[in-house]
Amino acid sequence: MENIKSIENEIISKIEKADNERALEEIRISELGKKGRISNILKKVGSLSPAERKEIGSSINTLKKIITEKIREKRDYLLKIEIDTKLIKEKIDVTLPAQIKQQNNGRIHPVSQVLDEISEIFGSLGYELADGPDIESEYYNFNALNIPDSHPARQMHDTFYLSKNNGKKGQSLLRTHTSPVQVRTMEKGKPPFKFISPGRSYRADSDQTHTPMFHMIEGLVVDEEANLGHLKWTLETFLSSFFENNEIKVRLRPSYFPFTEPSLEVDVLCDRSGSTLKIGEGSDWLEVAGAGMVHPNVLKASNIDSKKYQGFAFGFGLDRLAQLKYGIPDLRTLFSGDIRWLKHYGFLALDIPTLARGLKK
Ligand code: DAH
Repeated sequence: MENIKSIENEIISKIEKADNERALEEIRISELGKKGRISNILKKVGSLSPAERKEIGSSINTLKKIITEKIREKRDYLLKIEIDTKLIKEKIDVTLPAQIKQQNNGRIHPVSQVLDEISEIFGSLGYELADGPDIESEYYNFNALNIPDSHPARQMHDTFYLSKNNGKKGQSLLRTHTSPVQVRTMEKGKPPFKFISPGRSYRADSDQTHTPMFHMIEGLVVDEEANLGHLKWTLETFLSSFFENNEIKVRLRPSYFPFTEPSLEVDVLCDRSGSTLKIGEGSDWLEVAGAGMVHPNVLKASNIDSKKYQGFAFGFGLDRLAQLKYGIPDLRTLFSGDIRWLKHYGFLALDIPTLARGLKK
């Protein structure tokens, strides 16, 4: 018994001295392992008298339990020390500035952005979307819109002609405006009509306010009673929604378009004196749209009874609207493909100024 007690003390003092997991494991193997000291003692117990066997056997089992427990305690302790040391060493200073990776996010082009905004406004006014081809025929681009072959307005359009000839429908060309979609859409359906049609238009023209390719947005309303008052309301409602400004100054000027009668041009007040264009200020007027009451000849060309139906139409320069709203002075920069420009004027997909957020009712 004396002997077992001293073995116990000896092992415990070894356990106390062990200062790492490995040393502790070695002690476990040499004392408690299959070939360890305690197993060896147990083997010898077999040769003792039954009384001794009982007594010594039970004290060895007790010893085994004590040592197992001591080793477990020490292991927990070592683990705790290890974690504490790590925590101290690997402390994170949350006050340090974050290392943000430079991300090369794409940007939404102002023209796409403005197109979404315009579609949203006209969508909420009950307009549908219509579409037409960029490569048009003389017929749809001019004749059906009351611009016959000899009409001087043809020269005003600086048209890009293509070599293909379509017989009765005339030469192919890059459409000079989105107005051909009026006829194409009316031909296919029955009144009433209420749609917008955004898209590319082309003219051989290039300066600070003109590019050979640009975007227009056509609008058409045809029913039995659409009138000039509706048109005025529509233009003003659209412009104040788009610019999110009820005070916006809109000027309607009498004008001439072959496909409308009467015709008018739509200007908005702006300030062009500084490096950015400012809308609703200053003393300059910028033309943003043409409009008018649909000419009966256009309705006739679309197989619509012009005695029964009437309507109004408008055509906005989409790029001009983008310029005005987002302060872009030179139209040509919109299509120069300069990534630095896009970084500056473009919109992050998750940070788009939506009308729902900005619109003043
Ligand atoms: N198509 C015209 C242009 O080329 C714009 C326009 C004017 C469209 C009057 C219309 C309109 O629908 O009614 O500039």
